[in-house]
Amino acid sequence: MTLDGNTLVYGLFGYPVKHSKSPTFQTAVFQHLGINAVYVPFQVKPEDIEKAVESLRVLDIKGVNVTIPHKENVIPYLNEISEEVKVIKAVNTIKNIDGYLIGYNTDWYGFIEGLKEIMPDIAGKRVLVIGAGGSSRAIIYGLLNQGVGKIYLANRTIKRAENLIEDFSNFYRIVKMIIKPISLDEINRILNEVELIVNTTSVGLNEDDPEIFDYNLINSSHTVVDIIYEETKLLQKAKEKNANYQNGYPMLIYQGAKSFEIWTGKPAPIEVMKRAIGV
Ligand SMILES: NC(=O)c1ccc[n+]([C@@H]2O[C@H](COP(=O)([O-])OP(=O)(O)OC[C@H]3O[C@@H](n4cnc5c(N)ncnc54)[C@H](OP(=O)(O)O)[C@@H]3O)[C@@H](O)[C@H]2O)c1
Repeated sequence: MTLDGNTLVYGLFGYPVKHSKSPTFQTAVFQHLGINAVYVPFQVKPEDIEKAVESLRVLDIKGVNVTIPHKENVIPYLNEISEEVKVIKAVNTIKNIDGYLIGYNTDWYGFIEGLKEIMPDIAGKRVLVIGAGGSSRAIIYGLLNQGVGKIYLANRTIKRAENLIEDFSNFYRIVKMIIKPISLDEINRILNEVELIVNTTSVGLNEDDPEIFDYNLINSSHTVVDIIYEETKLLQKAKEKNANYQNGYPMLIYQGAKSFEIWTGKPAPIEVMKRAIGV
């Protein structure tokens, strides 16, 4: 690829960003479609996020993804946020239109499109979501959007799960009928009631992390998604029990595909993205 005076710049704001696979697959798509653009990782310290957002306008950077720890903190510095951001309260994609910055969230879409690869019909399903942090909010938004029948929301800090439900019920009155907050200790008891299990916590990132519930209770009627990228103990057990399972890469790929579409107006070739990072 030849860079010249017309090369457009896209990128990623995060801290840290070194591990990110987004530059690899976004660049692969630009190259595949012959678009004269680059996608650069920008390591932005938490205290510098306002300046980093301003630099998008100054340097005419056309768009960025936003990752941990900036997804919530960028919101005050944008000109506009999309409808889903008002509910999820986190931005992972910024589009720059002549200095006017619009924030979007494509994590919910990434999760749902990834899930459809192993569970094509999500409507009416009963789900266990573990975790009530930022990614959980996006995933619950997506699940509600697909018309799931029931969500058990399990979190270590149960108050946080209750707050999430309270917050979402300001947008959808049915939320309190669909989502039930539970403690981590209650998971074993409700496991037979659910078809889909989603881990949105960071538990499992380290090999010596304990099990969140009794993984032996997983059976072949379950579909298990862990949004951590590596194969966690949870996914190893799902595999052993012949359950349907998925790691965090499909979510990552599809959220990136939607960001690409928002920036360029073009559909992203999913297979090219997957091949670029070997998944
Ligand atoms: N695949 C993807 O595309 C994708 C996208 C986004 C995030 N992720 C991954 O998802 C994970 C969570 O990200 P996030 O942004 O949602 O983080 P977050 O907002 O900080 O939330 C973390 C969640 O994990 C729970 N947790 C943390 N340590 C725990 C422990 N020792 N025991 C039980 N629960 C614990 C927290 O519970 P409390 O409320 O009790 O603290 C909270 O529910 C990260 O590993 C991230 O890399 C993947």
